[in-house]
Amino acid sequence: MPSRPIRIAPSLLAADFARLGEEARAVAAAGADWLHLDIMDGHFVPNISFGPVVVKALRGQVDIPFDVHLMIAPADPYLVAFAEAGADLISVHPEAGPHLHRTLQTIRGLGKQAGLVLNPATPVSAAENVLDLCDLILVMSVNPGFGGQSFLDSQLGKIATLRRMIDAHVARGGQLIALQVDGGVTARTAGRCVEAGADVLVAGTAVFGAADYARAIADIRSAA
Ligand code: DX5
Ligand code: ZN
Repeated sequence: MPSRPIRIAPSLLAADFARLGEEARAVAAAGADWLHLDIMDGHFVPNISFGPVVVKALRGQVDIPFDVHLMIAPADPYLVAFAEAGADLISVHPEAGPHLHRTLQTIRGLGKQAGLVLNPATPVSAAENVLDLCDLILVMSVNPGFGGQSFLDSQLGKIATLRRMIDAHVARGGQLIALQVDGGVTARTAGRCVEAGADVLVAGTAVFGAADYARAIADIRSAA
């Protein structure tokens, strides 16, 4: 098994929305490494979640990094708002705008880490020309829009290809790039994700659907 450190990022999408602050504090106390915040606009994806106002309100609740996954199009007009709301990392889909390179540059220019998200149907080649601008690449292992979907095994090969691409990039003197998986990650699927090369696991239902968050995070970590 690879020895790189594995980070677990619970997705607040599966939390109790009437108690978001409390839920954020609970997963942080339960051992979450990052908090994953899913931003949906009802247009890029068929669901609506929350925006920068909620991210800002949550920022004071916990100290762990905020991993903001933008499922909105266009994304560019909202980058400043999410940066100011307290995002540490902002991830975008290449389909969300005409100039991915510029979008990633803008995120970096705001002093934030930049992430690139690949949908199940988006090829690895979408990352090839922007590797220098990525602090993270996220492989969607479900179609974005909803929590609680089944993990798509078809994405494991993509994770493995990206792992080789990232390792080669680092060997050439490039910056480190985290490799994240999002969708249907549970204690049953986490091992295969890490074996394929992932080092950040997003888990919504598997954490917030459990009675004991600390146990759920520990189970995913030990499976990984
Ligand atoms: C899906 C979101 C995911 C989602 C994961 O569009 O990007 O972050 O919350 O939820 P689970 O872990 O339940 O599949
Ligand atoms: Zn997500």
